[in-house]
Amino acid sequence: MCTSFPPFPPVMTSLIRQIGALAVRTFRREPQTSSSNFMSQYEQLYNILNTIKAEDINLDPSLLEDRGTFNPRRDGAPVTYMQLYEDSDVTICVFILKKGVRLPMHDHPGMHGLLKVLHGSVAVQSYSFIANMSMDGVPVNQSLSGMFPARKHEAVTVSASDPACRLLPEKQNVHEIRSLNGPAAFLDILAPPYGTDKRLGIERDCHYYQELVGGFPPPQVPEGRLVWLVNVPSPTDFWCDQAEYSGPPIEEDSDENGS
Ligand SMILES: [Fe+2]
Repeated sequence: MCTSFPPFPPVMTSLIRQIGALAVRTFRREPQTSSSNFMSQYEQLYNILNTIKAEDINLDPSLLEDRGTFNPRRDGAPVTYMQLYEDSDVTICVFILKKGVRLPMHDHPGMHGLLKVLHGSVAVQSYSFIANMSMDGVPVNQSLSGMFPARKHEAVTVSASDPACRLLPEKQNVHEIRSLNGPAAFLDILAPPYGTDKRLGIERDCHYYQELVGGFPPPQVPEGRLVWLVNVPSPTDFWCDQAEYSGPPIEEDSDENGS
């Protein structure tokens, strides 16, 4: 008698684990990675990231509850931060903005960023520095203290049904993000992470900026809309609390097969 058993069903791993594994592989800083290999993995990551939903990371619905425009006496912090994963090359996290709240204008020195809205919608105003960049991506100051010429891009409204926004070390690296019409949540993949970068021996800090209104005339360039950005201290109306991530864990050695 011949007994045959059906094959085991394939091990299906969660979407966020696949995204995590691909992000780790894409942004791992290995000198042998060719730029074409990086670009192909980056595009794969971008495409798969565009399919993620809030349910895929088990986002607690109470964090997304609309309690009206943010009131610090009633609502705690304006922004909630949730870290899903971090190693020396990449951070994967979620920011939740209450209604009427903004992440103040900030930079990502020398970093790549992918921002996928999971809930609600946000307005994103991006800028690109046109100053010469130093090694860690912070613009070299050009004669005027704390002021940097930057290209102001078209503001965009992004919701959960839209593809991810991308920022590069040299393009759209500064942005301000506002929640629109209610709370909003977005997944952020940032590489390399903020903080101590042992590989480069630098501290990668986040810097805050404001657009200079009046005073100096805008810098002269052949095309585009240019503005001055002024380096400012961290705005006092912006702070974060933290929430625990309760979705599928992302592990350093995880891969698409869930191993
Ligand atoms: Fe950002």
